[in-house]
Amino acid sequence: MITLREEITVARSVQDCFRYVADFRTAPEWDATAVRSRKVSEGPVGLGSQFDVDCAVGPSTLKLHYEVTEYEPWATVALVGKGRFFEVQDTITFTETDAGTRIVYCAEFTYRWGLERLEGQLESGMRAMGAESLSGMKKALEKTPSVPEISACSNRADRWVAPGVAMFSRWGYQRSLPQRQPVAHFMDGQHVVLTGANSGLGLATAIALAEAGADLTLIIRDPKKQQGLLNTLEAKTGRTDVEIELADLGLLEEVENLSQRLLAKGKPIDILINNAGALFNTYGLTGEGLEQSFALLLLSPWRLTRNLLPLLSANTRTARVINVVSGGMYTEKLACDRLIMNPSDYQGPRAYARAKRALTVLTELWAEEWSDHDIVVNAMHPGWADTPGVASALPTFRAVTRRILRSPEEGADTIVWMARAKEAGNITGKLFLDREPRTPYLLEKTREPAAERHGLEAFLAQQLPRPS
Ligand SMILES: NC(=O)c1ccc[n+]([C@@H]2O[C@H](COP(=O)([O-])OP(=O)(O)OC[C@H]3O[C@@H](n4cnc5c(N)ncnc54)[C@H](OP(=O)(O)O)[C@@H]3O)[C@@H](O)[C@H]2O)c1
Repeated sequence: MITLREEITVARSVQDCFRYVADFRTAPEWDATAVRSRKVSEGPVGLGSQFDVDCAVGPSTLKLHYEVTEYEPWATVALVGKGRFFEVQDTITFTETDAGTRIVYCAEFTYRWGLERLEGQLESGMRAMGAESLSGMKKALEKTPSVPEISACSNRADRWVAPGVAMFSRWGYQRSLPQRQPVAHFMDGQHVVLTGANSGLGLATAIALAEAGADLTLIIRDPKKQQGLLNTLEAKTGRTDVEIELADLGLLEEVENLSQRLLAKGKPIDILINNAGALFNTYGLTGEGLEQSFALLLLSPWRLTRNLLPLLSANTRTARVINVVSGGMYTEKLACDRLIMNPSDYQGPRAYARAKRALTVLTELWAEEWSDHDIVVNAMHPGWADTPGVASALPTFRAVTRRILRSPEEGADTIVWMARAKEAGNITGKLFLDREPRTPYLLEKTREPAAERHGLEAFLAQQLPRPS
């Protein structure tokens, strides 16, 4: 048996250190060999939680299955990891000190298949790996990563267009994993308002932000889905304190009523995530007589965000607005007079792409306008993710691309990062894919003239339905 013992002191609270380390999904952010980790058990992290961790050992990958065998909040977490060649018993203890938290990590390796005879040769490498892992843990917990910049490789891919588009698939997500910076910041007390929270990317975001401790107000439109959403959140995260607001965001009257309710409550908003959306393949008007793609995907998030500005500005921290757009917008150029399509020329994907292009432009306009209000505004597109929305609106696309679609969690990863990571509060007016700012224009011909940009909000204001 090889026994390792490493100790670090981290300038963070014992609660933060425990929560970060006990959730072994973070292992790739600090462990010297872990490259991927998934929670494979249901429910919040606790006694009995299980994780599958892939470790890179030379050119091959070693799979380890971990189970939490002791879970005493803020004091001790123990895990047993089983792999083909060895078993490891990890015991991690956390003690509050004047300087923060002392973390002691003990790992006992028991080898199989005669490998125990090689322990002498393996030991020094194992010790170096243990020291590197704990130094990685200290760095992850203490250091705020710098604001990301577009990599040379992504820049090239975007210039060549087709490789840029190929990154919308799960390969793009996987390609980005090794560049990831740790996210060891928790969101306790941060108020997040998230639209479209009951399905697809919105649901994956709600779960991840609930796990991170955020104070959630979730906007959904269907009262019948409310209890199911609350049950799911409780089962997955243990959280029972999530607020739900009902609003059909395709109707501007409901957007106004929702805004008034939130303003009356007066709770400052740290993060507003405009995620609700749908691709309508057939032309249709809302009950207020507006073309439905335009109403839901553009007029509604524009109005909601403007209405909620007092709550975003009422913050003592930098507030964040996150607009969920789509790679589809790369095909369209902003032209205000083409945002509302007619029944004769209506094409769902085109109406969708135009609205998302306009929301991306609004992101840039707001970022500039609100830089003095301490509000950052960014857009993201999720790539192609296998969600109920894609299954219902794009069944043929889904059937053809199913193997390369991202999971909802992979699609939502950048939304979660933009809401949670400290460094994401230091950048504004950008479009992100896989936690990296990307060009808003893959095709030069889709760059809009300044007059269209600057006329956009006045145009939107003219489209608001008149109160009856
Ligand atoms: N999945 C992708 O590959 C992909 C790619 C690019 C962009 N996006 C964008 O990502 C966002 C989330 O989409 P998704 O793929 O997760 O789709 P989804 O599974 O269909 O989720 C869409 C969410 O929006 C809600 N919503 C739709 N119409 C609404 C309305 N009138 N009022 C209030 N809420 C409404 C839905 O509620 P109901 O359940 O009640 O319908 C649902 O919660 C959308 O903005 C979409 O355009 C997705």
